[in-house]
Amino acid sequence: MSNRFAQLTFTPDVQRHQREHGSDRAYRRMTEGPAEADRLGPDETLFLGERDSFYLATVGATGWPYIQHRGGPRGFLKVLDEHTIGFGDLRGNRQYITRGNLDHDDRVSLFLMDYAHRARLKILGRARAVEDDPDLIERLSVEGYPAKVERAIVIDVEGLDWNCRQHIPQLFPADAVHEALDSLRERIAELERENAELRGTRP
Ligand SMILES: Cc1cc2nc3c(=O)[nH]c(=O)nc-3n(C[C@H](O)[C@H](O)[C@H](O)COP(=O)(O)O)c2cc1C
Repeated sequence: MSNRFAQLTFTPDVQRHQREHGSDRAYRRMTEGPAEADRLGPDETLFLGERDSFYLATVGATGWPYIQHRGGPRGFLKVLDEHTIGFGDLRGNRQYITRGNLDHDDRVSLFLMDYAHRARLKILGRARAVEDDPDLIERLSVEGYPAKVERAIVIDVEGLDWNCRQHIPQLFPADAVHEALDSLRERIAELERENAELRGTRP
């Protein structure tokens, strides 16, 4: 966990529980460092570039947290620079809950999973919707993807946290499974042909 992530999440209530359970000593150092936003390094950039979905939490005016799944072609969430990420906000059910929440509070939490490698990354940041910058919207669109980009969502990253892999189930994307099955099917067909030849019959 980075210092900045700890500074943003270790509230007095959280710290009180850490004290009660004896983990405060190990964590205290993190909250005492300089309050500088985390930078996206090569590991984060690679990881973000491979995602085809993530979960995005915003805060409503009622104080309720709200989580929405965001999906798109692999790499649709782009690293714009070492402090900034963005994605094209695709037209959906037109409830605009995330969009409306950002008018009230720009704080967001992203939760990014790689089930195949059992890895997860949490990001805290401040988000803004950009509706009047066609160049940016174009940059955050993915050619050929069948959905309309209504606006760009740009997020200034504040804190990062790589979680451990404990309790993450290992799941593989269907396209990777189909690819692996295709090569097995080809091999089985090849062996069936060879078997038929050896038996002197046709498959
Ligand atoms: C026709 C259509 C219907 C949808 N219905 C739902 C739905 O019932 N529930 C949901 O969570 N997302 C639904 N989605 C996906 C959301 O519209 C999409 O994720 C969008 O980003 C929602 O943003 P919001 O939850 O911030 O309003 C639908 C998308 C489309 C295209």
